[in-house]
Amino acid sequence: MAGSNSKTILVTGGAGYIGAHTCKALSSAGFEPVSYDNLSRGNADAVLWGPFEQGDILDREHLGDVIDRYRPAAVIHFAALAYVSESVASPGKYWHNNVTGSLTLVEAMRSRNINQFVFSSSCAVYGESPFQPICEDAPKRPVNPYGRSKLVVERLLQDCHPALKLNSVSLRYFNAAGADLEREIGEKHEPETHLIPLALNSVINPDQPITVFGADYPTADGTCIRDFVHVSDLADAHVKALDYLHGKPGVHQFNLGTGQGFSVLQVIEAVGQVTGVQPNVKHGPRRPGDPPVLVADPVKANQELDWKPRYCKIQEMVESAWGWLNRR
Ligand SMILES: NC(=O)c1ccc[n+]([C@@H]2O[C@H](COP(=O)([O-])OP(=O)(O)OC[C@H]3O[C@@H](n4cnc5c(N)ncnc54)[C@H](O)[C@@H]3O)[C@@H](O)[C@H]2O)c1
Repeated sequence: MAGSNSKTILVTGGAGYIGAHTCKALSSAGFEPVSYDNLSRGNADAVLWGPFEQGDILDREHLGDVIDRYRPAAVIHFAALAYVSESVASPGKYWHNNVTGSLTLVEAMRSRNINQFVFSSSCAVYGESPFQPICEDAPKRPVNPYGRSKLVVERLLQDCHPALKLNSVSLRYFNAAGADLEREIGEKHEPETHLIPLALNSVINPDQPITVFGADYPTADGTCIRDFVHVSDLADAHVKALDYLHGKPGVHQFNLGTGQGFSVLQVIEAVGQVTGVQPNVKHGPRRPGDPPVLVADPVKANQELDWKPRYCKIQEMVESAWGWLNRR
């Protein structure tokens, strides 16, 4: 963007879980994040680094006004609805918010010549992959509307490169976990759907057991296997992605995971070890749209982005989340 502030980054969804951790990482790296969030799922008190602008990505006029005032050099786009079950029940909501919202954002950027974009994609774009671990060129067959909304935005970014010279990195996170090690921010969703905070909650409130959805998957203990990646490691990857785009304009995708899978029951056991109290567990049926195994092959991100996760043990992730909860 002509006359842009090279250190200013617009962060949509900056009041959310991964967005807030990324604002901290950006600030530590010398950038000024500007958080833009409608607070539908985020928390204003998580915006501790850089200014906060409350607004919706579907509101093109307001977005344009914020861009004109701050003149960011790049956009990191976290803002989305991100509950698989909700997307199955209300697909239109996901197409509108995640797809139309992203299109509105891209159009607002393009009319102001901002051409650097980092997008929060997801392992949900792969669906039930026949290959494990999953590398970036594995088939993309999402099994729920949430995953389809992410894949459609990736396709939009591909179309926008030749036509509009929009350079982008799509980061396909596997399962974000843990909290800031300095305990300044953590994970706070209402309702909460993520495994570690739910298991910790059932330690604090034994009358609120954690439900394990499906114990008959074709895995060693019958529960789903996921690749948990520490949220501060994810945050660092965004700073690296900005750097990468400078040297390598184009359209890029990277898997972000540790390459190691843990089953739901293994994570619950780790919560028991860290807290000294075994969470109260109840069993429920499988959830529609939940693939049995999702584990990343992170080699491309390791090699090309120069990104290596630092906190790979499930205990470290649980400890950081527990530490933050205790501070609160
Ligand atoms: N958490 C994970 O494990 C995970 C995994 C893969 C991908 N992702 C993706 O990463 C991104 C961030 O995830 P998160 O866990 O931090 O979620 P989050 O819900 O904590 O954060 C999303 C933020 O976006 C905001 N938002 C939603 N719709 C908006 C809109 N129309 N306008 C403005 N703001 C809006 C919400 O208020 C919230 O603060 C999402 O795009 C999500 O799909 C997350």
